[in-house]
Amino acid sequence: MANKLAIVISCAMLLAAACHGLEVGYYRSTCPRAEALVRAEVKKAVRADAGSGAGIIRMLFHDCFVEGCDASVLLDPTAANPQPEKLGAPNNPSLRGFEVIDAAKGAVERACPGVVSCADIVAFAARDASYLLSHARVSFHVPAGRLDGRRSVANDTLLFLPGPTSNLSTLVSGFATKGLSAEDMVVLSGAHSIGRSHCSSFVPDRLATQSDIGAPLASLLRRRCPASPTTANDPTVVQDFVTPRKLDNQFYRNVLARRVLFTSDAALLSSRDTGRMVRANARFPASWEKKFAKAMVKMANIEIKGSGVGEVRKNCRLVN
Ligand code: HEM
Ligand SMILES: *[C@@H]1O[C@H](CO)[C@@H](O)[C@H](O)[C@H]1NC(C)=O
Ligand SMILES: *[C@@H]1O[C@H](CO)[C@@H](O)[C@H](O)[C@H]1NC(C)=O
Repeated sequence: MANKLAIVISCAMLLAAACHGLEVGYYRSTCPRAEALVRAEVKKAVRADAGSGAGIIRMLFHDCFVEGCDASVLLDPTAANPQPEKLGAPNNPSLRGFEVIDAAKGAVERACPGVVSCADIVAFAARDASYLLSHARVSFHVPAGRLDGRRSVANDTLLFLPGPTSNLSTLVSGFATKGLSAEDMVVLSGAHSIGRSHCSSFVPDRLATQSDIGAPLASLLRRRCPASPTTANDPTVVQDFVTPRKLDNQFYRNVLARRVLFTSDAALLSSRDTGRMVRANARFPASWEKKFAKAMVKMANIEIKGSGVGEVRKNCRLVN
């Protein structure tokens, strides 16, 4: 009885992560080089192409919001499961960085076979990409011990990942479903200061019809994008035309200046509360960096699979 009470109290006092069994330094004794090996692969990839780092940060979001952070987004189609998450519209063909995860998994498997989950590798890699693309300003530890899932269903992506045409209430409720607050949503949207978007993600609701997108950006985008993008003709543009390869608070400045691509980005100004957050993040970069780090840890903790429910995959693209 006293014991039980002590556990309940320490769970209330510790980070939620501790209660899910996630732990910083989880592989300290079983695979001490795991995090360094992942970091080395991410560094190599980001040096060659900063876009792969943007892809990996987005990958954590898309993994965690669908079936929890369990690497379900990494599974390739098979005869037994021809329509995994990877083929869902929010992921196909735009999600990138899978080869970096494969390379990190390869390095880790050579050092300690069968020990480190793909879900943990995705979380470590997103942390490392954030660090590198922010020029070391976004820095945090990742509690680990996730297991990899076996369920991966393309249509689930549409249920849980808000699209770029979403209004503010859809964004807030979509994040709330995953235990994240409106502020977490605003803070994590700062990731739209890096990477790219396909024209099809914003042309229909931002260029083809009346929208609040600023005239200078609109005319630039009309030159880069077809009037009606198709699968065969769907170029990409950078999300942040000021500092396209730096993870920074420029996104919030862009929101205020009507220089953002998506309805969902612009929608952050549609309530007093979130508008205030946008202005604060635009003004105080160091405070946003800290909040971003905390929100990434929180996102990386969604619906973690405990023992018995998951496995440590041998190959991140296939269930064991
Ligand atoms: C708030 C709801 C969100 C919506 C509606 C949204 C939507 C999108 C869309 C439509 C794209 C462009 C995909 C393409 O056409 O290539 C994109 C890109 C991106 N998103 Fe989000 N996103 C959201 C939240 C997030 C979060 C929480 C993160 C991570 C913390 C994130 C990180 C990124 C990154 C890094 C890219 C660039 C990817 C690349 O260059 O490959 N987004 N997002
Ligand atoms: C999944 O989505 C596709 C395309 O929207 C639809 O045709 C199909 O019926 C859906 N499948 C299920 C099981 O909901
Ligand atoms: C937001 O979008 C949802 C889904 O499209 C819609 O049902 C809702 O009425 C919209 N809310 C507002 C305030 O426009």
